[in-house]
Amino acid sequence: MSVVKLETVFKSYFIDNVEYPILKGIDLVVHPGEMLAIVGESGSGKSTLMNIIGLLDHASSGKYYLNDHDVFSFSERELAKLRNEMIGFVFQSFYLLPRMTEEQNVSLPLLYRNAHPDEIKERARKVLEKVGLKNFLNRKPNQLSGGQQQRVAIARALVGDPHLLLADEPTGALDAKTSEDIMNLFLELNQRDKTTVILITHEEKVARKCSRVLYLEEGFLK
Ligand SMILES: Nc1ncnc2c1ncn2[C@@H]1O[C@H](COP(=O)(O)OP(=O)(O)OP(=O)(O)O)[C@@H](O)[C@H]1O
Ligand SMILES: [Mg+2]
Repeated sequence: MSVVKLETVFKSYFIDNVEYPILKGIDLVVHPGEMLAIVGESGSGKSTLMNIIGLLDHASSGKYYLNDHDVFSFSERELAKLRNEMIGFVFQSFYLLPRMTEEQNVSLPLLYRNAHPDEIKERARKVLEKVGLKNFLNRKPNQLSGGQQQRVAIARALVGDPHLLLADEPTGALDAKTSEDIMNLFLELNQRDKTTVILITHEEKVARKCSRVLYLEEGFLK
């Protein structure tokens, strides 16, 4: 079984009716428990690929199986449900909701699932403990450092027990020391909890810590 299986995925953007091909036939299989790094130059299409894998965008053509679900045949509504249940996404800029506390931000994916308030509280606290942040439950994002905000975002990505954790340059906005801490957290989540991780990074040093590295070049994964 695979977590992710892409077959000949193409993606073009159109601006003023001019086609800009970005992905030109991507084949990719990711197995449970893998930690895959995707490396590539700025503009090579890494985020485009990640957004397709994360069900945030549609491919132009090809096939995509997420845990053996043929996702390109799903409606938007079904996709939203699948995304909520299967995928945790962490971005370079953390995208926390500024007016909500740490605990509320982390609880959101479970609120969308209509989980029971007691369960939400328990799970939110558990993941915040896992990322080392259980003492700041009532703080808002602007009362946390960048590294702490990213930990909250990681806790939010994990709270729903995703099959797949996607991270698009999660350390891009952090200093060297904090980046290393966050990378170690991803490694720990992968090695200890067997979470499947796909990570986009510019940094070879980060990529080398992953179990597999693929390069996105001229629309192909190599
Ligand atoms: N919505 C869009 N409409 C048109 N073109 C887009 C759109 N999004 C991205 N692109 C173009 O697609 C190409 C790939 O963009 P993408 O964001 O996937 O690159 P990236 O590898 O993630 O780059 P970076 O390392 O800078 O984040 C770029 O040339 C970009 O300008
Ligand atoms: Mg990008």
